[in-house]
Amino acid sequence: MELFDVYPLYNVTPVSAKGIEVIDDKGQKYLDFYGGHAVISIGHSHPHYVKRLKNQLDKIGFYSNSVQNPLQAELAQKLGTLSKCEDYNLFLCNSGAEANENALKMASFHTKKSKVIAFKNAFHGRTSAAVATTDNQKINAPLNQQQKVTFLDFEDFTGLEGELKTGNYCAVILEAIQGVGGLDEPSSEFYQFIQEKCKENNVLVIADEVQSGFGRSGKFFGFQHHGIQPDIISIAKGMGNGFPVGGILIHESIKASYGLLGTTFGGNHLACVATLAVLEVLERENLIENASTLDSYFKEIASTIPEVKRVKGRGLMLGLEFDFEVSDLRKKLIHNQHVFTGGSANKKLLRFLPALNITKEQITSFFNALKAEL
Ligand SMILES: Cc1ncc(COP(=O)(O)O)c(C=O)c1O
Repeated sequence: MELFDVYPLYNVTPVSAKGIEVIDDKGQKYLDFYGGHAVISIGHSHPHYVKRLKNQLDKIGFYSNSVQNPLQAELAQKLGTLSKCEDYNLFLCNSGAEANENALKMASFHTKKSKVIAFKNAFHGRTSAAVATTDNQKINAPLNQQQKVTFLDFEDFTGLEGELKTGNYCAVILEAIQGVGGLDEPSSEFYQFIQEKCKENNVLVIADEVQSGFGRSGKFFGFQHHGIQPDIISIAKGMGNGFPVGGILIHESIKASYGLLGTTFGGNHLACVATLAVLEVLERENLIENASTLDSYFKEIASTIPEVKRVKGRGLMLGLEFDFEVSDLRKKLIHNQHVFTGGSANKKLLRFLPALNITKEQITSFFNALKAEL
């Protein structure tokens, strides 16, 4: 058997990694400013994370959601406190798409409606309702197209109000900062308008924090830059620092009942300790503050590079826009400078998604590598 060939691969084979460095099978070191697509939040193989997972593995790695698992309650408590979202309840699953799937399903159960508003250029995952709310027809199969989704432009106040008034919608789903789309975000005024109009029309606001959450934007959640409080918040990626884990925070006004949601693997012992370790390191090492501080350091240096036409994003979810497509530049950065960076749907945007414990010196190294290839 061979692999189903869906991923165009760079010819690099990482075999180990530590902090911000990835080492390949030939012993070559790479600086990881991509974090495996915003997944590595506290650095590769962080000692506390490794210790926590190893210890847990020695005890119990998995049991199903039919027995008590106090690690889930510990995680919910810690996550509520650190994110300042104490008045939510946590449902654990395994990935970002699954988190959004459950978020959309909950909104539909709660409101008994089925239509969803999403935004142009949004990415919410590749499964059923999640892919239907993703603005990319290439990955939307006829099966998925049966979902009823309206795509609006950011700042379309009139369109949003008109659609919500029809009374057919269960949710508005948004990324606080669009990740895959290319780091666009509307005004706080628009987000606050969404919240206000959703309340008026009994429609739920779902914040997809799969990429922007867990401190990446310089606050625990990206929506916290805009003064809104969503009804449901989806999380994954940086949450497990590489361990596959996702979840949704559901406002306590939305009630649970047995069997409403469920999953075999979600919230298993290893996933819980991986996430607890991430939260502990974020807190102990002040990594959210680090992301916030380094945002301005990065932008300051970027503003001195004439080829950079625009700097986008927040915290350590950043991008540099050029007036040319960046795929060749990314290849040169990997092969000549041994530096990983990210791309996006905006082909002119080079994305920077490092672990949140990156240092100023490492950011300087990134810019030195970049300048050498421009
Ligand atoms: C904002 C956002 N939502 C959802 C997803 C889907 O997450 P996963 O690939 O874990 O299913 C992604 C993945 O890139 C994402 O960026």
